[in-house]
Amino acid sequence: MSNITLIAIFTFGLESVVKRELQALGFKNLKVSNGKIEFEATVQDIPVANLWLRSADRVLLKLGEFRAVTFDELFEQTKSLPWEAWITADGKFTVTGKSIKSTLGSVRACQSIVKKAVVERLKSAYHTDWFAETGPEFTVQVALRNDVAQLTLDTSGSGLHRRGYRRQAGEAPLKETLAAALVQLSFWNRERLLIDPMCGSGTILIEAALLARNIAPGLNREFASEGWPAVGEKTWKAARRAARKAVDSTGELQLFGYDISEEMIVAAKANAKAAGVGSDIVFEQKDIRDLWIDRQYGIVITNAPYGIKLADFKEMNQIYITVNKMFRKKKGWSVYFLTADKKFPDYFKRSRPSRVRKLYNGAIEVNYYQYFGERPK
Ligand SMILES: C[S@@+](CC[C@H](N)C(=O)[O-])C[C@H]1O[C@@H](n2cnc3c(N)ncnc32)[C@H](O)[C@@H]1O
Repeated sequence: MSNITLIAIFTFGLESVVKRELQALGFKNLKVSNGKIEFEATVQDIPVANLWLRSADRVLLKLGEFRAVTFDELFEQTKSLPWEAWITADGKFTVTGKSIKSTLGSVRACQSIVKKAVVERLKSAYHTDWFAETGPEFTVQVALRNDVAQLTLDTSGSGLHRRGYRRQAGEAPLKETLAAALVQLSFWNRERLLIDPMCGSGTILIEAALLARNIAPGLNREFASEGWPAVGEKTWKAARRAARKAVDSTGELQLFGYDISEEMIVAAKANAKAAGVGSDIVFEQKDIRDLWIDRQYGIVITNAPYGIKLADFKEMNQIYITVNKMFRKKKGWSVYFLTADKKFPDYFKRSRPSRVRKLYNGAIEVNYYQYFGERPK
């Protein structure tokens, strides 16, 4: 029986991916909007969503939502919410905030009003004036949009992209959550050959391997709500146990990563090992210009150096020319190319992109150019 509302938040553009992930986890009644999906859940689902969501940034627990145009309204309605059901008497809590197109535009003032209201509520619930704040940590968020305040508790802690496996990253690493989305937006499946010819720290291939092995991406990290008595250690343990049981180590995967930098290849291997998929991916130091593709069918997913951050534009052009030479006549290959450079389609002359999706890698706007290949016979 569902009795709580959770909110998965994520990068704009990933609505359909996160929706599919939630549906696959069995969640129903999804309310999708830009960058977030609200869904009905139970307390037991808090660990499940945190452990399993691959493309979401975090999971929030919704405490309330109401219209507020004065500080009094914000205070009173925040105070009326059952904070004591989650925040313990010894809990340590901080308040974060944001305000978009709202009368209450000062985020700092809203945060301080919310903090006061929650403290007042806890004082009367716990019959005390003094809080030790030595216990579990809670982050309350007040988010105002169009004069509607949404009050949530962050169940994740650090962002879900922090899987715990990336010990070493390159200069322009891809967020793990975005890498997982790129793989899920492609037609790759565990039976198919996948290469990333500019793999950097290996994120795309590692996320593909986690997906293929049905490894919950959050299995090797901790979450804020693990310390919450209202969720309970038992619930977390059970979800982790189920996730460990779900791992599918059968069959061989065909995942190959290359990079011009030896250092990145060393990092990618270490990261894959830390993620538990070290033996599923072959990494090799190679310039994309020396890569020889002799297979009729396959999939390339890669994110190119952007120019803003890495290689100069001349070098990028060289890479585009190489990609064009390599795959122009290989109709059995699907090519998925993430870049901030809108000129890429002018270089890749096989066809116009089958699809283009605008995404964000951190603050950088990027395009995901998708060229679908013929299916293997
Ligand atoms: C944007 S980064 C890729 C980041 C990667 N997706 C990750 O998660 O770490 C681009 C990578 O392209 C590599 N690169 C640049 N020129 C190359 C070339 N000619 N051949 C192969 N790799 C190259 C760089 O070393 C860099 O690691």
